[in-house]
Amino acid sequence: MTPILETRGLAAGYGTSLVLHDIQIAIRSGEVIGLMGRNGMGKTTLIRTLLGLLPVREGVVLLDGADASALPPFRRARAGVATVPEGRGIFASLSVRENLRLAARPGGVWSEERVLSLFPRLAERMAHRGNHLSGGEQQMLAIGRALMTNPRLLILDEATEGLAPLIRDEIWHTIRLVRDAGVAILVVDKTVSAVLSLADRVVVLVKGSVVYSGAPAGLQADQAMMHRHLGVDG
Ligand SMILES: Nc1ncnc2c1ncn2[C@@H]1O[C@H](COP(=O)(O)OP(=O)(O)OP(=O)(O)O)[C@@H](O)[C@H]1O
Ligand SMILES: [Mg+2]
Repeated sequence: MTPILETRGLAAGYGTSLVLHDIQIAIRSGEVIGLMGRNGMGKTTLIRTLLGLLPVREGVVLLDGADASALPPFRRARAGVATVPEGRGIFASLSVRENLRLAARPGGVWSEERVLSLFPRLAERMAHRGNHLSGGEQQMLAIGRALMTNPRLLILDEATEGLAPLIRDEIWHTIRLVRDAGVAILVVDKTVSAVLSLADRVVVLVKGSVVYSGAPAGLQADQAMMHRHLGVDG
């Protein structure tokens, strides 16, 4: 099966400094990929490059097998790639309803009704402004807004950052439901155990290079790697 999104020999960075080196990743329909690594290793930089917010310096980004390296972000979004960015990026002065409707791209299964059935709390807050929501509600809105574009691939950077434990569990549960609905997912999160239990495959970055790519079990079996690259002691 041709991956939805793939990179080959990808390098990217800021100004003259390269952050990412020779990145090979592939995300297929229905898969969950966990993108892992300590602070500053290049996870957000990779996501920004996949979305077209940073230029490709070397190698290629492929969408459905076609070179998309030069496509602007809106063209990648139109091809079915949606994002929940670090910091969420919802419109603070707009209502929940407006945030959702601005993103809507008809022609798929994710209607407003379906998104609200995933997030009953949002349904109760449709008239509230973005900045009057709790952190958890804002993250639900950011996910809901991404789903309104009817994506085939959802990319989440720091999926549960800054949220209370119960709300985190709710977000993870929702991400599973989105996966079960057939949306491929690339997720970054500091909660290593949650990422390992959700992902079909994980990719670990160290200083912008992939040091592990494969099943979560293979990573978990390597205590030295878990300790060095993820800061987890078993
Ligand atoms: N706007 C920028 N300009 C220059 N360098 C940057 C910029 N953003 C990030 N970097 C550098 O790129 C490297 C990778 O950062 P990046 O934010 O991709 O890491 P990360 O894995 O997402 O980290 P975190 O877990 O803290 O979110 C770091 O060395 C960082 O200092
Ligand atoms: Mg980051």
